[in-house]
This record gives sequence, structure tokens and C-alpha cells, in this order.
Amino acid sequence: MHASSLSFRLAVLFVIAGMAMGIGMAATQNHALMPAHAHLNLLGWVSLFLFGIYYERRPALDVSRLAMIQVVLWSIGTVVLTVAVSAIHLGYQAADPVAALASLIVLAAMILFAYFVFRPARDVAHGRAAHLTPAE
Ligand code: HEM
Repeated sequence: MHASSLSFRLAVLFVIAGMAMGIGMAATQNHALMPAHAHLNLLGWVSLFLFGIYYERRPALDVSRLAMIQVVLWSIGTVVLTVAVSAIHLGYQAADPVAALASLIVLAAMILFAYFVFRPARDVAHGRAAHLTPAE
């Protein structure tokens, strides 16, 4: 599987979970899990979908093992962070070190992504527009 496909599939699963959480908060009028909901949606849906778009536009990177590792690392960090932040806001302060660890996991995944962005652009695909020939 390509890194972009994995990103898109996981992103959709994350946003379904995030929306269900939002509906749960609204229905119960208990917004205690709002920080966990916000992180789940912004890390799991928005960021992951953006990674997918980036990878899809760079075919060589899209099939690389390192890009898959970045997506998997990010997704594991997102799940652990969401659970830990939920636990903290439900009163389980013991989850604090777990949230700290998860935040370092997502930071590591973002640094790996930054490496892809800053290294020489050999993986950049030429867009379709680049292949169009002007009308006669
Ligand atoms: C079915 C869909 C959704 C429902 C029912 C829902 C519901 C909620 C609720 C009830 C809150 C708490 C508001 C408060 O306490 O002030 C909230 C906060 C938030 N939601 Fe959602 N949400 C949904 C989808 C999303 C999505 C898709 C995203 C991001 C892409 C998102 C991002 C946020 C953020 C960032 C906050 C925090 C806002 C703040 O700091 O005041 N939500 N949501």
C-alpha cells in the first residue's frame, strides 16, 4: 500500500471517531473531552489528510518505507495522545506521562516529515499541467 492511501484511510477513520466524540459531547452536554476531540480531529483528520496529499504528489516518496513509517508513527502517536488527553480530562492525572510520550512520538513523526520537505526535491512529481502542450 502507498503512504498516501494509508494516510487517507486512517484519516477517514479518525474523523469518524472524532465526529462521534463530538456528537457524544453535544448530546450529553458534557464538553470535558473537548481537548481530546480537537486533537483527534486536527492530528488524525486534517494533518494526516494533508500528509496524504503531499505523498500522493511525490510518487517515489509515496512508495518508500520511510513515508509509511512516518504515517504509522503519526497515527500511533495520535491514538495514544487522544486516549491520554481524554483520561487526563476525566480526572486520571496518572495519564500525564503517557500524553508526554505520545507528544514526543508525534513530534518525531513531524520531524521525519520535515526531513522529506527540506531534502532535495528529487521525489517531486511533475503535475499534469506540466505535460500539456499549448493549443495550436
Ligand atoms: C459531527 C461533527 C462534530 C461535532 C458534533 C463536534 C462537536 C464539538 C463540540 C461539542 C465541541 C466543544 C465546544 C466547546 O466546549 O466550546 C467541539 C470543539 C472543537 N472541535 Fe468539534 N465537532 C465535530 C467535528 C469536528 C471536526 C471535523 C474538527 C476539526 C477538523 C473539530 C474541531 C474542533 C476543535 C478544534 C474544537 C475546540 C474549539 C475550541 O477550542 O473552542 N470538530 N466540537
